[in-house]
Amino acid sequence: MAANDAAITAAVQLLRAAQVVGVPTETVYGLAAKGLCAPAVDGIFAAKGRPADNPLILHVADKDQALELWKDVPPLAEKLMDAFWPGPFTVVLPAGDIVPANVRAGLPTVAVRCPAHPWMRKLIAACGFPLAAPSANTSGKPSPTTAQAVLDDMDGRIALVVDGGASRMGVESTVVAVQDDGVRLLRPGGVTYEQLCKIAGSVVLDDGVLQPLPADARPASPGMKYRHYAPQAQVTLYDGPPQAVQATICRDYDAGQGNTVILARGRPARYAPRRCYDAGADAGEYARRIFGLLRRADDDGYARILAEVPPCEGMGLAVRNRMLRAAGFRVVHANEIGNDKGEKQL
Ligand code: TXA
Ligand code: MG
Repeated sequence: MAANDAAITAAVQLLRAAQVVGVPTETVYGLAAKGLCAPAVDGIFAAKGRPADNPLILHVADKDQALELWKDVPPLAEKLMDAFWPGPFTVVLPAGDIVPANVRAGLPTVAVRCPAHPWMRKLIAACGFPLAAPSANTSGKPSPTTAQAVLDDMDGRIALVVDGGASRMGVESTVVAVQDDGVRLLRPGGVTYEQLCKIAGSVVLDDGVLQPLPADARPASPGMKYRHYAPQAQVTLYDGPPQAVQATICRDYDAGQGNTVILARGRPARYAPRRCYDAGADAGEYARRIFGLLRRADDDGYARILAEVPPCEGMGLAVRNRMLRAAGFRVVHANEIGNDKGEKQL
């Protein structure tokens, strides 16, 4: 249903009645429910097929509403909220007693974000309570950045999707934990590492951001341990100097059995006549297109995706984090033209 006042009224009614509703945000679409109501939140886990040990983010209208959900909020956390809210930024702090255990997946902390999308803001304000909302994909699949992508996964399982247009950022929010010893980046997203450092001084990058976690690890962000964002197609990333990457991708494409598509960082014509999607010339554009292209590769019936990835600066860190997971950490390190150090399945 197109976002308008009538859609918001319908969504509020469903949410008050403990139903699950698809909602637009500036990052990706969410699957929302009444955030402090445990049975309503159970509905999200059921619709997504989400493991019960992966906690949810509570979405609030403003900082005051967030402060009611935590205990012990350090001044640095407030400074970060003042800098990045409303926006693609999520803060993890010790949870107050009013937060149900299923929202937190039993952890002593809760993640809270104040989104910027105008219709999502209207919806939270009209509800008067926080909304628990994970990304609106079936668990493990690429996140949805359009209302249609939500319907592709959730049709028949939820009562309504509010269509607020294509998501502006394309990847999920930045998640940080703020502790006595500073800021830990758990998931890179719309607020970059560099922007965080400007406010916080220094920021620790959590181990799970760019590396696979050992099977027995207890990750700071439980979502990091799951295979994620993955299309049906097998994804391989190519890293190294641009010319070497291009030559190695061409070599592997030509050696393949067909059914392969290349994900290029701009100028797809340089791969002609091979089949190629354009992920955009800069990392911000790649972020906006990434999940739509992973879904499209499945719709187009490709079995393999050979992908260029941007460097780790700016939005590049978030793109790399998502693509590494989509690829199950399969990376080819290209060094010389047409050469590589071998495929590394980490
Ligand atoms: O942009 C976003 O954040 C989107 C939109 C809908 O707001 N939401 C989203 O939610 O991406 P979800 O559930 O797909 O991802 C939340 C991530 C997961 O990796 C989860 O493990 C982590 O945040 N998380 C949630 N609560 C946490 C907590 N208490 N401690 C550590 N990590 C937490
Ligand atoms: Mg998600």
